[in-house]
Amino acid sequence: MNIDFSTDYLGFKLSTPLVASAGPVTSLPQNLPRLEEFGAGAIVLPSLFAEQIEHEELAVYDFYSEMDEAHAESRSYFPEMDFYNSGRDKYLQNIELAKQSVKIPVFASLNCRAAGQWTREAKRLQDAGADAIEINIYDVVADIERDSRAVELEQVKIIESIRSQVQIPIAVKLGPYYTALPHFARQLADAGANGLVLFNRYLEPEMDLQEMSVQPHLELSRPNEMRLPLRWIAILRDVLPISLAGTSGVHSPGDAIKLIMAGADVVMMTSAMLKMGVDHMESMFLGMKTWMHANEYTSITQMKGSMSRKNCPDPAGFERSNYIKAIVSYV
Ligand SMILES: Cc1cc2nc3c(=O)[nH]c(=O)nc-3n(C[C@H](O)[C@H](O)[C@H](O)COP(=O)(O)O)c2cc1C
Repeated sequence: MNIDFSTDYLGFKLSTPLVASAGPVTSLPQNLPRLEEFGAGAIVLPSLFAEQIEHEELAVYDFYSEMDEAHAESRSYFPEMDFYNSGRDKYLQNIELAKQSVKIPVFASLNCRAAGQWTREAKRLQDAGADAIEINIYDVVADIERDSRAVELEQVKIIESIRSQVQIPIAVKLGPYYTALPHFARQLADAGANGLVLFNRYLEPEMDLQEMSVQPHLELSRPNEMRLPLRWIAILRDVLPISLAGTSGVHSPGDAIKLIMAGADVVMMTSAMLKMGVDHMESMFLGMKTWMHANEYTSITQMKGSMSRKNCPDPAGFERSNYIKAIVSYV
């Protein structure tokens, strides 16, 4: 039995629904052909940060306006960020190199919290050959004066601004913390987003009781985290006509299949490959193939959305009633 693994995402016909998400795996050029060979349908490069772009532009301004050297120096250089994603100019070269090394689509990524001059960078990414741009909006709203409406409007403004500058597809990668996600998601679509990537993982800081300091802390995801995007993709699939990517906690073929059944067009992976190696992409692909064969599915299209909120036997299972049932079922 032949299985058609192709899927539509952001207007592309991808050969498989498995995408290597932005992170250390895609930051190494030598990994890209291997990912393609192992079954990735597309690749998202690591993010370029809005702060990085803005600081570089300020440094140029400082240089020409002959401000004092120390001032310029202090604002001009973010070595850790440059180490992570090669820096702003090299990032453009990396897009070109990535495009030469694989045939599958290559998406660039911008990481930001608010609109600004940095959004002009999107045009440079497009000109360098990126097939699409993923915008990762990562904000921690600590200001008590900012209400949710203002925060959401700011984020919509980011997408409007980028949409006005590029013709290539835009995906928006969001965290899960929105009061009314479907309504906000529709606003992003109206602003020009062609897809949503659900969800970004927020990395919570740790406290060091010896040093009495707050430390950055990174833990890789665990498999059960995919149930958060599972719920929201199932809910959004029936109400939004744009592409949906499931990410966070995709570790096994079963995780990917569940997200696709909920309605994801693609699933993305980073942690599992950091733990198990780049060839985990192939295990995912082969595992999905085996499962689909055993369960007589002939295509990804046939599976996609078959268990979305509207299509599953118990739509309320994705809502509050699930919470009540789960609580009372605990013995
Ligand atoms: C070390 C590390 C670096 C990451 N860098 C980026 C990044 O540059 N841009 C981005 O959008 N997401 C980044 N991510 C998030 C991943 O793309 C992914 O969304 C997240 O890890 C959840 O997926 P997972 O459970 O498969 O890891 C990073 C994740 C890790 C672990």
